[in-house]
Amino acid sequence: MREAANIVEVASEFTALKRQGTNYTGLCPYHQEKTPSFSVSPEKNFYYCFGCSKGGDAIYKTLAVATAYYHKYLLKSPAAAEARQYLKDRGFEQSTIEEFRLGYAPSRERSGFMQAARKVDLDRGALEAAGLLSQRGGERFVDRVMFPISDRRGRIVGFGARALGDAKPKYLNSPETELFNKRSLLYGFPQVAEAVRKEGAALVVEGYTDVLMLYQSGIKNAVATLGTAMTEQHLKTLSGHADRIYLLFDPDEAGEKAVEKAAVTAAELKLDLRVLRLPEDPADWLLEHASGEFLDLLSEAVPILEYSIRRIAGQVRGAGATSRARAVPEVKALVRQIEDPVLHREALRLAAEALDVNPEALRSEPDSRNAAGRSSSDGPRRRAPSDPLIEAGREVLAIVLARPGLASGALQAGMKVPGLMDEPVVLGNGDFADETHARIFASLVEHAEDPGAVLSDERARPLMDEISALRAAGEKLYPSEASLRAAWFRLAALSREKAKLLTDDFDEKFRLHAEIKRLNAAAVEASNLTLES
Ligand code: GTP
Ligand code: MN
Repeated sequence: MREAANIVEVASEFTALKRQGTNYTGLCPYHQEKTPSFSVSPEKNFYYCFGCSKGGDAIYKTLAVATAYYHKYLLKSPAAAEARQYLKDRGFEQSTIEEFRLGYAPSRERSGFMQAARKVDLDRGALEAAGLLSQRGGERFVDRVMFPISDRRGRIVGFGARALGDAKPKYLNSPETELFNKRSLLYGFPQVAEAVRKEGAALVVEGYTDVLMLYQSGIKNAVATLGTAMTEQHLKTLSGHADRIYLLFDPDEAGEKAVEKAAVTAAELKLDLRVLRLPEDPADWLLEHASGEFLDLLSEAVPILEYSIRRIAGQVRGAGATSRARAVPEVKALVRQIEDPVLHREALRLAAEALDVNPEALRSEPDSRNAAGRSSSDGPRRRAPSDPLIEAGREVLAIVLARPGLASGALQAGMKVPGLMDEPVVLGNGDFADETHARIFASLVEHAEDPGAVLSDERARPLMDEISALRAAGEKLYPSEASLRAAWFRLAALSREKAKLLTDDFDEKFRLHAEIKRLNAAAVEASNLTLES
């Protein structure tokens, strides 16, 4: 603890530090700068400058030592026999394992990297700063195959770590820091950069194992994102080395969203970006097929603009003219973002063809808002009564409005779930899928100490019809403490469910998944109570 205080004291002698959360920041004493990028962590007993990388040397050193340790352990230790067998069974050759410095983190019964680190004078601060400790302070990586991840310059900045069996999570990554930033890092980059330059093309795949298998099949220009969808930064990194990029992906909703964003970025960067949906992961596919066949597949990749437009159009395929017109605003929004005149014209042509509409319908600038394209905020709302998220929001409001006194505590500090969740479950306006519901909830929160006061709030007047209707509906729902809890948790779960579907970050998905499970359990527990009472 004394030591922890010291690093701030010492650094303060060189530069003025300001507290920011658990860290302190200031102007870097090692290089000239106007905005502070020098960060001191008393917890980690560490300093680092994000501008000039001073202080980071120790982190790199630690990660380099860890990489060597895990790698050697995999190759040599009798305790790594299972890991070696696992990699062999998956078809990875020794040369690939060595080239990508794959490793193995010992199981819990063995002494791990912490002990080894001590022998080479790496202290806890260094391990912590390098992201090698768990939240409880033990080894972060245990009984996992280690994939070292480097930045563009080839410095190791973290790890992806795969469980041997089906332990959850399947992959565990280093914690997110400014050094280990999943939105800009690409797995395999330093190893494949040369081939990417030579080919003028890069493949972006989803899995670390896909990069490895492609590499050893002779396709040496593939990189992988780190469990997130491809971002603008990834594209920028690649655009410096290649002008053609193949995006090989698994088409879930988040993936499709990312593709649409990428279409616009690619146009800006003048990248020839093509997409290909695969029947299975390249790593698995290549076990059964020759690499030549893979190149055949690749030649069928579709230019991203065409892909995006066809996808939107595909959602209304076979429908009548009215329904097809419904896709017009979405396609227009995409086309409008493409500034390059040649690409813009090409996009218009493709869109008109795919939607089978007159190109004029797409070109006219002032939003040709036909009835079908109207957004939910203007005009009478035609609500989809079957949307469970909206229904859950309605139920929460109905119960709260019927028995405002029951909700006061939860509106102020969230709803506690003893034994199941550490933090109380807080609802926010964003959890209500219906605009009016969100506004009603906002005014309830404003009056959290006495939610009943909403009924006499002048500013809530425009909402009063809806409020009365909800209140009446609430009376029929047997409002009670238990029914409020059940509705509250159900809404929280459904809203997290939507967030989980929309996020393109695997760690976030995983976190939400666990939270949803607990929320559903809490909802079930509460509704069982309503049955008993
Ligand atoms: P293998 O099953 O070993 O072939 O791995 P994979 O790479 O094919 O896994 P998958 O296709 O399921 O996922 C693709 C990528 O998403 C992985 O390489 C990881 O980067 C990421 N990912 C998958 N599962 C998890 C997880 O449980 N947690 C995190 N953080 N990332 C994951
Ligand atoms: Mn796979």
